[in-house]
Amino acid sequence: MKRIAVLTSGGDAPGMNAAVRAVVRTAIYHNIEVYGIRYGYKGLIEDDIFPMRSRDVANIIQLGGTMLKTARSKEFMTVEGRALAAEQLKKHNIDGLVIIGGDGSFKGACKLYAEHQVPIIGIPGTIDKDISGTDYTIGFDTAVNTAVEAIDKIRDTAAAHDRLFIIEVMGRDAGYIALNSGIATGAESVLVPERITNVERVLNMIDYDQKRKKNVHIIVVAEGDDFGAEALTHVLQNKFPEMEIRHSVLGHMQRGGSPSYYDRVQASRLGYHAVLALKEGKSQLMAGIINNEVKLSPLDEVVKKHQSIDDDLLDMVKILSS
Ligand code: F6P
Repeated sequence: MKRIAVLTSGGDAPGMNAAVRAVVRTAIYHNIEVYGIRYGYKGLIEDDIFPMRSRDVANIIQLGGTMLKTARSKEFMTVEGRALAAEQLKKHNIDGLVIIGGDGSFKGACKLYAEHQVPIIGIPGTIDKDISGTDYTIGFDTAVNTAVEAIDKIRDTAAAHDRLFIIEVMGRDAGYIALNSGIATGAESVLVPERITNVERVLNMIDYDQKRKKNVHIIVVAEGDDFGAEALTHVLQNKFPEMEIRHSVLGHMQRGGSPSYYDRVQASRLGYHAVLALKEGKSQLMAGIINNEVKLSPLDEVVKKHQSIDDDLLDMVKILSS
């Protein structure tokens, strides 16, 4: 392994910069040249590739976003796009690739390997935490902390007005941000995409709380919930016209901001181990964290499975909010 490249792909996540920094500095330490690829697979296809030095990653560990920029590339989803990508890697004599991204990015990586045998190590980077083979994904911790801070503030105003708030948090296919921010803020109810929403149950709970004069409610709804925060707001307002109900969407603020200490440390560990794996001739693996140890799992298995959501935690929300 003489020369490797690193890219960030899909939605950005706080901590990606720490991982890029670790990849660059570990590679240089081991006398491996390292190239950065801007805008993920899009930049790879378009030859937006540049050599990186140690000082290029100075002063970035504390920054949100990704210094390499990111994109979701439609072209890379095609056989022709991947052939172009492989050609660029060959042109620059790049022997291995570190891909920091989510499930979609890893699916693309598997195809690149199958068609062009490019050695690849993946690092899970997504605020949604919806990747199997790891207990941790870069950005999740920071995103949940951001959601918690915002929901705490909303609870202040909800309490002042005796209002019910329906708060939508990110998570297109996964409810981890909703579940964890909901538990941490004492939400009365949490709705996630992994479970079919029982609206009747929510209505009954609010009815019961109204009768016992519990006036403040926080319902945290993941973006990908089958019923959805907006529809729920309408249903509740119709059913309880006397209640003051507000709908708040936290949105992309959850993707930004300075990464937490935890995201910086774990992302650094994953970047470091990804380079060591490539150096040892390993490929087609994802560096994840299981029981606080870095573990390598086959990329094609990781993309086949889905993280399951913890029933116990969902049950706990019901009990602790009663
Ligand atoms: O990165 C994951 C995620 O934040 C999802 O939770 C969300 O649905 C999606 O990205 C939003 O993507 P975009 O920024 O491209 O609209």
